[in-house]
Amino acid sequence: MSSRVASSVFVVGSINQDYVLSVERRPKPGETLSGATLALHPGGKGANQAVAAALLGARVALLGLVGDDPAGASLRAGLAGRGVDTAAVGSTSQAPTGSAFITVTPDGENAIVVVPGANHRLGPGDVDAVAGAIRAATVLVAQLEVPLEVTGRAVALAAASATLVVLNLAPARQVPDALLAGVDVLVVNEHEASILLGGQVEGADAAIRAAGALRGHGPEAVVVTLGAAGAVLADDQGRSAHLPAPRVEVVDTTGAGDAFVGALAAELARGGSLRDAATLGVRAGTAAVQARGAQGSFPTAADLRNEPPP
Ligand code: RIB
Repeated sequence: MSSRVASSVFVVGSINQDYVLSVERRPKPGETLSGATLALHPGGKGANQAVAAALLGARVALLGLVGDDPAGASLRAGLAGRGVDTAAVGSTSQAPTGSAFITVTPDGENAIVVVPGANHRLGPGDVDAVAGAIRAATVLVAQLEVPLEVTGRAVALAAASATLVVLNLAPARQVPDALLAGVDVLVVNEHEASILLGGQVEGADAAIRAAGALRGHGPEAVVVTLGAAGAVLADDQGRSAHLPAPRVEVVDTTGAGDAFVGALAAELARGGSLRDAATLGVRAGTAAVQARGAQGSFPTAADLRNEPPP
């Protein structure tokens, strides 16, 4: 892996093959349901966020690991085709490419089971190998679908340099405050905020309070995404705002949070304010729920320019 990958957004994260079942409803325990349709889509939170940022014009590189198998080769080619620098995407014969098994119901809601595969073979040494690229990037984006030591090492490297750190705490888990202290912008949804704070976070008012409370754990700023209700933020001065989303017909929510994070990172890398970045995130997430799959539903800058006014 090269340490001379030049990017404005450097993403450290997972790459998955998504197997998406469209179902009328989810089966109960012991029940067999027939009649689903299956589609394969490129996914993984890291890959999705990298693609979302690249489609909006950011210069993006990704550190990740796929299996030495056809899915890995095809996912890597797809990333490159969507404008992501894959020089730091390695392959391993020790594990298959990560996969995610997703059910989507007619209301667009998804439920996901992930088989990490190669994503869990990524190690802190792989991060060290791209340390120069992380330090040179404007924004680092990381999540929790790769080992925590990998995310932690990337955050620590970026925090010790001028690189802005965006951490999407997904999938939800507790992390040490020492890691959160290196984060400039923490992005969580209501469920993730609830897990971190140990209470129920639901709705814009509760999310604003949660964002403020989460700042107390170390991040400079916090964004809580609210799905159809948009997002709230608490900035580095402790000022809060609610950024509502337009009402749209929801087809598939898979990857909407990743579209949000990628767009936010792209705007921050352009020098935009947190408010502008979160506003672009809401627009990208709103576009993403209107089509099936993750990456295939993400908007380009031209798509957003051509959006009808709210
Ligand atoms: O955030 C959506 C993603 O989560 C899917 O693409 C799936 O791969 C899982 O990682």
